[in-house]
Amino acid sequence: MVKICCIGAGYVGGPTCAVIAYKCPEVKVTIVDINQNRIDQWNSDILPIYEPGLDEIVKATRGRNLFFSTAVDEAIIEADLIFVSVNTPTKKTGMGAGFAADLAYIEAATRRIAKVATSSKIVIEKSTVPCRTAESMRKILDANSRADINFQILSNPEFLAEGTAIEDLFSPDRVLIGCLDTPEGHKAQQTLADVYAHWVPRERIIGMNLWSSELSKLAANAILAQRISSINALSAICEATGADVDEVGFACGLDSRIGPKFLKASVGFGGSCFQKDILNLVYLSESLNLPEVAAYWQQVVIMNEYQKSRFAARVVKKLFNTITNKKIAVLGFAFKKNTGDTRESAAISLIKYFIQENANIHIYDPKVSVEQIEEDLIYPGIATPEQYAKRINIHQDAYSAAQDADAVIIVTEWDEFKTLDYSRVYENMNKPAFIFDGRLILNHKELKAIGFEVEVIGKVIQ
Ligand code: NAD
Ligand code: UGA
Repeated sequence: MVKICCIGAGYVGGPTCAVIAYKCPEVKVTIVDINQNRIDQWNSDILPIYEPGLDEIVKATRGRNLFFSTAVDEAIIEADLIFVSVNTPTKKTGMGAGFAADLAYIEAATRRIAKVATSSKIVIEKSTVPCRTAESMRKILDANSRADINFQILSNPEFLAEGTAIEDLFSPDRVLIGCLDTPEGHKAQQTLADVYAHWVPRERIIGMNLWSSELSKLAANAILAQRISSINALSAICEATGADVDEVGFACGLDSRIGPKFLKASVGFGGSCFQKDILNLVYLSESLNLPEVAAYWQQVVIMNEYQKSRFAARVVKKLFNTITNKKIAVLGFAFKKNTGDTRESAAISLIKYFIQENANIHIYDPKVSVEQIEEDLIYPGIATPEQYAKRINIHQDAYSAAQDADAVIIVTEWDEFKTLDYSRVYENMNKPAFIFDGRLILNHKELKAIGFEVEVIGKVIQ
């Protein structure tokens, strides 16, 4: 029986390795983490992350061939293949602060493998890492392990998006497996390819060199985010000219060389990876003494910040240039629908602007807990504890959040926001009642007919 260990039970390690266990019943998969609380949640009825379809997969496999544990060393010792799926956030201090990826978790996990392994292993980079990280991992492994043990390192980046993780894992566009160009490297690559081949067509399992595989992950995220910043830049032109960004995106997307996806204008992209990975690419470019290349990619992040501040400024301007003590209902706090993840959510940036203007903010999100909102707003200093107590209110439904509000702001594209009874929302709001659609999901003409003042990213509603 092949044994797999996954270090890191997060948004990637959890779903990815649960799907491997589901699709490969003869493989034993153990997902380990140093966070006891997270492992307890994975072993409970309420999983630590919300992802459509994940509950069913975990229920079908947990205790059969899927195990969650904090016994990291035991899992390393018994595994043939080890996925390293730990977090790689942007460094907050020190060299490269604000740009470079913090590789401390990767290094700690690698050192642990080197220290406790008693047999040869295939170590797989699943985390998103800077190009050539595998080289550092190899040095750490070789310098700290028993001489008779051999490690092969593969790069196998993950392309799932939150909210559609299970779908993406079941039928990925491609699975990349990067290896060193040696017979042992290719053998390891084949071993991992055989795992994926249980459900992924062979032609979608792509072998390539290690550094291409590492860089392809950063490149794919940078190009996806670039499309969003491109359409968001156009949305500002639309608002100033009377063009409609939905129509412009649609027209461009019909060109088969461009394609329709990721051209939806928004209040700005969020999530734990786009910004982090572009900044990582910027840092890599700077380190390679390529300042023009660095500036090119950094503009994608600058445009995203501009989009959020532009939207916040529009809210203030439309509400007669002051939102002091006004009631603003923020619908959605997660960075996108179908996830409870709030990392880098546009909601956090918007609320920061609104708090500075002394507005009262009423938040509703179907999947984000009160504790999470508190952590996101107080801990990084978006709101002081006093401001939080005075200005932030969290609601259990959208109607209650919008009661007596001056403006409703759609920040996340949750399906339930499309089907609210907007006549009821309107009746209970202060007049004039404003609605700002930051995700272009509502029927704007209908809202206008109800009586709302409607403001939309990338278009002017007549
Ligand atoms: P996460 O923070 O949700 O999970 C990482 C987990 O690793 C945490 O639970 C943490 O406790 C654990 N961990 C850290 N150091 C450890 C150690 N030494 N031993 C054991 N456990 C340890 O992060 P995530 O969102 O799953 O992302 C993981 C990686 O995957 C990142 O590099 C990210 O860029 C990449 N990625 C994420 C997504 C996504 O949608 N979230 C998609 C593709 C790739
Ligand atoms: C993204 C990529 O899509 C995944 O392929 C990648 O694996 C992942 O990053 C990662 O490396 O972590 P994710 O961040 O989970 O996935 O979600 P996306 O669907 O890409 O959305 C990111 C942000 O862009 C969201 O805030 C979303 O609302 C926004 N977005 C997306 C737009 O504003 N417009 C669009 O057209 C598409």
